[in-house]
Amino acid sequence: MSKPSQPIGLFDSGIGGLTVAYAILQQLPAESILYFGDTARIPYGTKPAETIRQYSESITRFLLSKGCKLIVVACNTASAAALTHLRQLWPDVPIVGMEPAVKPGAIATRSGKVGVLATAGTFKSQRYASLMHRFAKSVELLENPCLGLVELIEAGEVDGPRTEELLRDVLTPMQAAGADTFVLGCTHYPFVLPLIRKIAGPEAAIINPAPAVARQVERLLLERDELSHEALPRHRFFISGQDGKFKKMAELILGFEVEVEEGILL
Ligand code: DGL
Repeated sequence: MSKPSQPIGLFDSGIGGLTVAYAILQQLPAESILYFGDTARIPYGTKPAETIRQYSESITRFLLSKGCKLIVVACNTASAAALTHLRQLWPDVPIVGMEPAVKPGAIATRSGKVGVLATAGTFKSQRYASLMHRFAKSVELLENPCLGLVELIEAGEVDGPRTEELLRDVLTPMQAAGADTFVLGCTHYPFVLPLIRKIAGPEAAIINPAPAVARQVERLLLERDELSHEALPRHRFFISGQDGKFKKMAELILGFEVEVEEGILL
């Protein structure tokens, strides 16, 4: 058993998982979080699954060595490649993963066409094939790996013309084909939600699974009697690269000042 005051550990290839950290802190403001961004090895989406499994294992080991009571794989690509493996390695640790919200997308669409934005690694995975098989029998999924988008977001270009152009190239054909619902299947993409909204229009349904993941974290902690009641939670941030942008982006999304420990190579 862990103590309620122990932190929740999250990791991603970079800043993407901060969108999940934000949702968790909105839902559970008394929790402390410990975040690892693998900025030296980003992107994950174009690397082989076996490589991502190894990265995920060493990062999870690091988070557990720092006393995390629960792990959130705050990256769809890493969840697709490594979630089963991590749960086998640490059967007693609650480990929560991300997956593209194909089921909510299939429920939300009126046109029967859902645009899915995720990385190449996620699309290639067994987990994604299983989601399609289970939940997308009666709808059509229009997929795009959004090449280069993660890098632009990581560079802080969340509203620049290059990002807008890339998103127009992704979304316009989907809309022309009839998509009325868009699933954000990569944790970096909520950073560009305002741009996606601008291009897709006010009527489109845009699904970010992070709040549902935060509720799942709450359910698991409640079940285990490990919900924190700390008046002064403490958050820590580690990155593998040396990157001034991370701090700025973390403060932008979380809304408070953060200290970042850089160059943590695992
Ligand atoms: N944020 C990650 C995800 O949710 C992937 C980004 C990357 O390609 O590194 O899939």
